[in-house]
Amino acid sequence: MISSSPEQTKQIAAEFVATLRGGEVVALDGELGAGKTTFAQGLCEALGVTGPVTSPTFAIMNVYHGKFRVVHLDLYRLKSACEITALGLEEYLGAPDTVTLIEWPRAVDGVQWNPSHVVSLSAISPGERSINIAYGNGGTSISRGN
Ligand SMILES: Nc1ncnc2c1ncn2[C@@H]1O[C@H](COP(=O)(O)OP(=O)(O)O)[C@@H](O)[C@H]1O
Ligand SMILES: [Mg+2]
Repeated sequence: MISSSPEQTKQIAAEFVATLRGGEVVALDGELGAGKTTFAQGLCEALGVTGPVTSPTFAIMNVYHGKFRVVHLDLYRLKSACEITALGLEEYLGAPDTVTLIEWPRAVDGVQWNPSHVVSLSAISPGERSINIAYGNGGTSISRGN
C-alpha cells in the first residue's frame, strides 16, 4: 500500500487492527522516520486508547489500554538481550487480550521474535510511505503453559 500522509498511515493501521483478535505480535520494520510510531498511534487510536501514544524509545516499553491491551516496544536503544528479560514480556506475549507492537525488532543480536505479522514501512518521498503487511501463522513468540 502507499500512504500519502501520516493520517493515511494511521487509517491503514486502523483497518489492520480491525482484523486482529488479540494475542498477535506485530513487528514494525523500517528506518528511522519510516512511520512505525505513526502506525502504532493509528492502531492505538482505533482501539480507543486515550492519552498520548509516544515512541517508547526511552522507556523501551509502553503499555496502553483500549479494546486490547497494547504493549508497544521500541528496541532501538536496547544494549543487550539481557535487558529484554527484565521487561517481563512472558506475561504479555501472546496473551489473548494483548496486541504487542515491536519497533526495531532486529536491533538486538541474540533476540529473535516470531511475529504473527510483519508491517514494513519505508519512505518513498518526504510525504509518502510504502506499507507492506505480511501475515504470518499467528504463532506467539514465547510458548506458554508448557
Ligand atoms: N505517509 C506518511 N506516513 C507516516 N509518516 C509520515 C508520512 N509522511 C510523512 N511522515 C512523517 O514521517 C515521520 C514518521 O515518524 P515516526 O512515525 O516517529 O517514525 P519511526 O517510528 O519509524 O521512526 C513523522 O514526522 C511524520 O509526520
Ligand atoms: Mg518510532
